[in-house]
Formats: sequence, structure tokens, C-alpha cells
Amino acid sequence: ANKAVLGPLVGAVDQGTSSTRFLVFNSKTAELLSHHQVELKQEFPKEGWVEQDPKEILNSVYECIEKTCEKLGQLNIDISNIKAIGVSNQRETTVVWDKLTGEPLYNAVVWLDLRTQSTVENLSKRIPGNNNFVKSKTGLPLSTYFSAVKLRWLLDNVRKVQKAVEEERALFGTVDSWLIWCLTGGANGGVHCTDVTNASRTMLFNIHSLEWDKELCEFFEIPMKILPNVRSSSEIYGLMKISHSLKAGALEGVPISGCLGDQSAALVGQMCFQDGQAKNTYGTGCFLLCNTGRKCVFSEHGLLTTVAYKLGRDKPVYYALEGSVAIAGAVVRWLRDNLGIIKTSEEIEKLAKEVGTSYGCYFVPAFSGLYAPYWEPSARGIICGLTQFTNRCHIAFAALEAVCFQTREILDAMNRDCGMPLRHLQVDGGMTNNKILMQLQADILYIPVVKPSMPETTALGAAMAAGAAEGVGVWSLDPEDLSAVTVERFEPQINAEESEIRYSTWKKAVMKSMGWVT
Ligand code: G3P
Repeated sequence: ANKAVLGPLVGAVDQGTSSTRFLVFNSKTAELLSHHQVELKQEFPKEGWVEQDPKEILNSVYECIEKTCEKLGQLNIDISNIKAIGVSNQRETTVVWDKLTGEPLYNAVVWLDLRTQSTVENLSKRIPGNNNFVKSKTGLPLSTYFSAVKLRWLLDNVRKVQKAVEEERALFGTVDSWLIWCLTGGANGGVHCTDVTNASRTMLFNIHSLEWDKELCEFFEIPMKILPNVRSSSEIYGLMKISHSLKAGALEGVPISGCLGDQSAALVGQMCFQDGQAKNTYGTGCFLLCNTGRKCVFSEHGLLTTVAYKLGRDKPVYYALEGSVAIAGAVVRWLRDNLGIIKTSEEIEKLAKEVGTSYGCYFVPAFSGLYAPYWEPSARGIICGLTQFTNRCHIAFAALEAVCFQTREILDAMNRDCGMPLRHLQVDGGMTNNKILMQLQADILYIPVVKPSMPETTALGAAMAAGAAEGVGVWSLDPEDLSAVTVERFEPQINAEESEIRYSTWKKAVMKSMGWVT
């Protein structure tokens, strides 16, 4: 049969903490044509440690590309129409590998990992209170969350890493760098780069000058020669070179031309290009980003200042304020894998629906301490307000409510920092398929929650950046050409007073979760 005739297509790798996907879009209509997803393992070798195998991450990307290409074939779509590939990724997760062998020198230390808590405490003592140069240069509070301290730990504790650094064989990167290096040839000429959004999460990057910062590298004692080159989020970094026994060899030579940390990618995919536009993505964690335009806004209420995007070498950089919540989808996975009260993640909706209330039970999933707005590493998870009446359905409901309360906390902080309250919340991410969660979110925020009908906005953002890159030019980012997004809306249904009572009880529970680890 003749192959279907379509415009140019763009592929996107969406490498998240819990899963990897590859998606292919029609660049003219932004229509999602096909995709494939693979769930990823996480290892917890010690209390508070979270690792992933960089090779498994890479292989999951190959598998997704291969399966998506197969599916496109079944749809009679010619994969030679794929003109560019974008990469979006879990941020901060730290990989060090050997550039001669292409082998990782240790597992990836995942953003959620807490092993660097004492390193952070020691480093904080060296920052003068009246001159927090780390915060003013990076926009970030000193925390276990960011790459610099993870890399410091690897340099201090892993002999193989130390040796490779001495022998000038070590390369450091966040997951985008690791993937782009491998996909562009690895040990045979792979390109060692990252983009400004990912770089801004390392704590080594000056978000004003858009360069690695010498003073920060000295402070964290990081050798600058192992850092990747920092590029814009939309330009050709290199061409696909697949040294893998892969049907996706058909993508050989396709430019990789978009790269954004997943939360920035979602901001682009949600078309939040104007100052004051915001989106909230419910993945493993939950991240609310508000575009602050070309100025760096510093938060007074526990939010981060981060690079939103820079869509081209000669294009201006845009910044965002970010409210980061460590645990959102991860609490559902925990109920599935650790408590076994659900068999699939989707089942949580059924359980929550059965009761429609937590019956006074509150669940603070501070598994990795608390991120924004508290930045409290001493917190640990608690479930409280239990009675003999409480059952697994109430706990499931409380878990969903926790995601919504955490979002409320960061939205409140955002509104205080920006001075202009958000009138609705644009949402995306896997959990937004859960209608109970979305309704609860509208009730708890007391503003409408608006979800695009195509929820894969992270991948869409990476595809847009890749397709719009100079030398590719198959995707127009001109506002007039961007197709209008159809949305589903959830309006608040409970009254504001009831919503406030629930929220203040949640805050009591949060206070109880703090100070567990001393
Ligand atoms: O900062 C961590 C974030 O990028 C992880 O995103 O989608 O895996 O929750 P996700």
C-alpha cells in the first residue's frame, strides 16, 4: 500500500523518572501520531538513596524509538519523514561516564536521592548569611536536589570516578547529556553538551551570564573539564548515529535539535510564552512553573528561579519561577509497589471514588524531605488522623489530596511572589488522566483547572524546540501559527470555607512531618 502522505514529522524523547517515551508529532498540526512508553526501575540501595542504571535508561530510549517506528509502519507512515528529534528529561539526575569505553562509572544518582544531606549541611556553613552567592548566581537553595552535590559525592566516594577524572576520561552530565552523547555516537564521536535549562539545575551554572561559574565550581570542588558544553534549547547538537542493532537505524542522520529539562519542555508545550503564564505538571514529582519573561525574579517564598528556555542560539533567554514538589505520582507508585493496596496506578481513582473522602486521614508523602516552599530535608512521610474506620480507600484518597494540597502550597507562594494571582491552573502529566484528582485540585485551589486534550505537553515542547531549530525549520513558533489547544475544564465545586478548613488541617499534618531526621 502507498504510504500516507504527511508533512514533516518530529520525534521527541521524554525521559522521566518513572518512565521513558518516544513520541512522533506532525509538525504542521501538532497531532500526536504514535508513541511508545517503557516503565523504568528505581533502586533504593540504602535508606534515602535513589539510583537508576544509565544503561537501562539508554536502552529504554532505544526500545521506545524502535517500537514507535514499528507502530508508525503499521499506520503506513514513512519514518523517513522524521526530520528532527528533541530530548526532554528528568532534571538534576547525575551521571558520570568514561568517554573512551562509553560505560557509566556509577549508577545515575537520581534527583530524589538524599545521600548528600550531610554534605549540604557542611557546605551551608561555608556560605555567609549576608552573601548567599550560590542562590544569587544559580537561583537555587543549597539542597540535596541539585546535581553539584551529587557529583561531589561521586568524586569523594567512587574510586572509578576519581581515577577516570585523573586520567581525563570522565564526563559528567544530566540525563540529557548522557543520552545525546550516546545517540550521537558515544565513544565514537558523541557530542558532550547540555542546554541552558538543564544546566540551570546543576548548581554550577550562572543563570545571568549563562555560563559554568568558576567560583561555584571551586566552591563545590568540581573540575570544569568534565562539564558538558552549554547550548541553547533549540539548535542542532549533532546527528543520530545508532550503533545499535536497531530497526530505528532508519533515524540515522536525523538531527537532534531540541533539548529541555522536562518541566521547561512542558512550559513550552503548554504554550506559556507570555510573562505570567504558568503550568503545573504531575509526574513523579509535581512542578509549577511560571514564565517571568526576560527577567530573573527571586522568590521570597521558597520558590526557585530557573531558566525557562532559550529557543535558539541568538534568541533571548526566558526565566521562570518554579515551585517543586518532590512526590506526586511517586506516592501512587509507593501505594502500588510498597503497600500493594492497588495493582495498577490507575486503580487509585476507583478506590478514591468509592469513598469520596479521606475521612479525616492526611498523608504527607515527605519521602525525600519536603521541597518547596519548605526546603526541609528533615521531614519524612506520615499518615495521620487514622481511626478504626480508616481503610485503604481513605488512604488512597488522602494520597491524591496530598498532591493537591502540595500544589496549593506552591500556588500560594507563586501568587505572593508574583503579586497577580493565577486565575486558572494549566495542568498536564500522567496523573491528569485521573478525574477525581483534577476535581479535587480545583476544589482545593478554588480556581478552575484546565487540561489540554493532548496531555503529552512535555514531549510536544521538546518536539517544538527540535522542529523550530535553525537548519531544521519545520515547526513555526510564531504565535499565529500555533494551533489552538482544546481543553477540558474542572470548576471548583465545594465552597471556599470547606476548602480552607481542609487545607489548614493539611498544614497541621505537614508540621508533624518535620524534624524526623536530626
Ligand atoms: O526535577 C525533577 C523533574 O524534572 C522530574 O520530572 O516528570 O520525572 O517527575 P518527572
